[in-house]
Amino acid sequence: LFGFKTNKVSGYFEPIQPSNEDNLLLPKNFKYDVVAAFDDVINTAGEKFGQGADYNAFFPINGSSTRGLLVTNHEYTNIFLLGPIADGKMTADQIQKNLYYQGMSVIEVFRDENGTWKMDTFSKYARRINGFTKFELTGPAKGSSALGNATTATGTFANCSGGVTLWNTALSCEENFSETAAASKLPETHYGWVVEIDPFDQSYRKKHTALGRFNHENTAMGITADGRIVVYMGDDKKDACVYKFVSKGKYDKSKGRNNSALLEDGTLYVANLKTGKWLPVTIAEVKKVLSNEKYKNPYGISGTKEELLKKFQTQGDVVTFCHEAALLVGGTPTDRPEDIEISPFDNTVFISHTNNDTHGNIHGHITRIFETGNDLGSLEFDFEIFAVGGRQSGFSSPDNLAFDSNGNLWVVTDISSSSQNKGVFKTFMNNGLFVVPTGGKAKGTALQFASAPVESELTGPFFTPDEQTLFLSVQHPGENTTDLKNPTSTWPHRKGENMARCGVVAISGFKLGQ
Ligand code: FEO
Ligand code: CA
Ligand code: CA
Ligand code: CA
Repeated sequence: LFGFKTNKVSGYFEPIQPSNEDNLLLPKNFKYDVVAAFDDVINTAGEKFGQGADYNAFFPINGSSTRGLLVTNHEYTNIFLLGPIADGKMTADQIQKNLYYQGMSVIEVFRDENGTWKMDTFSKYARRINGFTKFELTGPAKGSSALGNATTATGTFANCSGGVTLWNTALSCEENFSETAAASKLPETHYGWVVEIDPFDQSYRKKHTALGRFNHENTAMGITADGRIVVYMGDDKKDACVYKFVSKGKYDKSKGRNNSALLEDGTLYVANLKTGKWLPVTIAEVKKVLSNEKYKNPYGISGTKEELLKKFQTQGDVVTFCHEAALLVGGTPTDRPEDIEISPFDNTVFISHTNNDTHGNIHGHITRIFETGNDLGSLEFDFEIFAVGGRQSGFSSPDNLAFDSNGNLWVVTDISSSSQNKGVFKTFMNNGLFVVPTGGKAKGTALQFASAPVESELTGPFFTPDEQTLFLSVQHPGENTTDLKNPTSTWPHRKGENMARCGVVAISGFKLGQ
């Protein structure tokens, strides 16, 4: 038995074995309740829970760990919603559905007297935010030519992971937005941003352009030694960079949500892993690099020097075409940086690098960054490879991360559905959730806590403040289904149904005082 202890809770679990069963498997004495699944009604207006459940964040109501608002991201749609797409071209109806079922849900959840987690569809807060919802743009690209002078943007989609702010709002990251934008004939530069919503206030919706535009996976927010805020972010592409944004102003708790202005003005940095430096991604730096007589195009960015000088004229251009700008100023391309978490114990920063088959990094790794002086505002760092995917560790393709209060890193995996249970991925079987201690004797050892249904990925692990409940999404079960009569998964196995639904579960069984 592996023991884990937290400040408020201690519990023990017997690690499970990898499995290819079409079920969500948990250790003995743990159970899960499906709180919401694809297409479930979430409120009295009849709005529906989206598809592709990803990030979760729990916002207590009146400080409760048994009633609160759950913010869930919806990343993409699939055959169980759209049916087959003829010749790769969506019909008008499919385009509408695709926009409606992506984005985010705010739902109200509670644990009843029998210990079962449920959704409260009478909630006054429950609502959908999707491809039709209007957002206010903030920061350097607002009103800029790169965005067609737009000051607002319609819709959010491809919402992957996210984060919570210090002022109790949710950040949601637009990742693989291109396909939906193109299919819906929407302007591509309006997507690929970090959006902010307030689960308790419908009218508050922003896209913060100062945080850059790329295939945003996540945000992890902390405070620098001198009181500014910092946001770490990954660009989930092969050979893409790790970023951090540092605000100009300082965080002031008494200002509450008005601290959000900090996300509108600051400096975006990109990591150079060779020099251990955070390099500013600014128009001044980009121009300096391009004006150098010895300029050489790094990493095959498309465009001549002259074309790039034309492309990058303002900071609005730099944040909009962030990946190219970051490479120009010296950012290091890495192996698909996905989730990032800041250790609450020592301010080290953990980054999942899922994998990158173009470099033979088949099973991925987790990098740990040590900011100089443990200051998240430092512009210098060192790093180590904290854990490596593969047979020796027992997991492959790390993705979302979450910390518990005992320094255990909870890691979900994202082996693609086309690779699962085949070739060098065979031993791992279905995707899973692993517990990896970041200190002590078992440091770096991965112990399997959950096994996912067929062709799904577990996403969005998030603990309630009392750590009695872990919310977790089951994303895209049965996604390789081509014949709706013969789905490859039927999770969550609802009676009378022959289809798979993604959804969010609440896991309980973490025992107090043992
Ligand atoms: Fe949407 Fe990078 O996972
Ligand atoms: Ca992800
Ligand atoms: Ca996370
Ligand atoms: Ca992923």
